[in-house]
Amino acid sequence: MADILGIAGSPRKGESSEQALSILFDYISEIDDGLTSSEFKLSNKNVGPCDACGTCLSHPICRQKDDYLEALDHFRDPELKVVIVSTPVFFGSMSAQCKAFLDRGLLLKLHREEFTKVHYAVLAVGSHRHGGQELAIQCVSTALQCQGMAVLPNLNYGGLPGIGLWASEGESLRQDLVGLSELQVLARNIVEHIREPILTY
Ligand SMILES: Cc1cc2nc3c(=O)[nH]c(=O)nc-3n(C[C@H](O)[C@H](O)[C@H](O)COP(=O)(O)O)c2cc1C
Repeated sequence: MADILGIAGSPRKGESSEQALSILFDYISEIDDGLTSSEFKLSNKNVGPCDACGTCLSHPICRQKDDYLEALDHFRDPELKVVIVSTPVFFGSMSAQCKAFLDRGLLLKLHREEFTKVHYAVLAVGSHRHGGQELAIQCVSTALQCQGMAVLPNLNYGGLPGIGLWASEGESLRQDLVGLSELQVLARNIVEHIREPILTY
């Protein structure tokens, strides 16, 4: 049971996109240590791509018995309010791991009534400052909207449904002072939204 679910899309354990989530969660706890969070890290999960078997067209289940079933339990959690997807930028878009995870969400789209209504924001980490973070954020955002989720209504990043972060190879995400300050603002947005939800459904 958690208010906030973080999904990390890197194949690498403990690296930048997982760090971005934990920094965000630390900022959230500094503002309100009563909120609860959980993480679903694709670096230690087995989530295969959708094989378009069609089972979910008629039943609210996925035929593939892998760790995506655990993610579905998170999406059914009645306490869940905000989902944060953090992906590395791979060739200008999200990682393959993140894409596989999102494609499995066809089930969420087709059987929306089975799952909790949540709001989302996206984090994208690239090793170049302008390495495609914006497009990666938009691609993740499009998938989440298709699944019936709504963007966090009080986001204020010029219309972008998330934050682009920069972690040059060999340098920590902590060097990205602009990104860190945007994560702090996002933490405040999330806390404010959970305290006084703006219903956009
Ligand atoms: C296959 C591949 C493609 C990549 N493409 C890009 C890219 O297009 N733009 C960019 O800024 N960084 C790119 N990178 C760098 C990663 O986004 C960067 O190392 C990021 O920190 C990885 O996330 P992680 O540290 O959470 O694993 C790429 C890395 C890999 C392995």
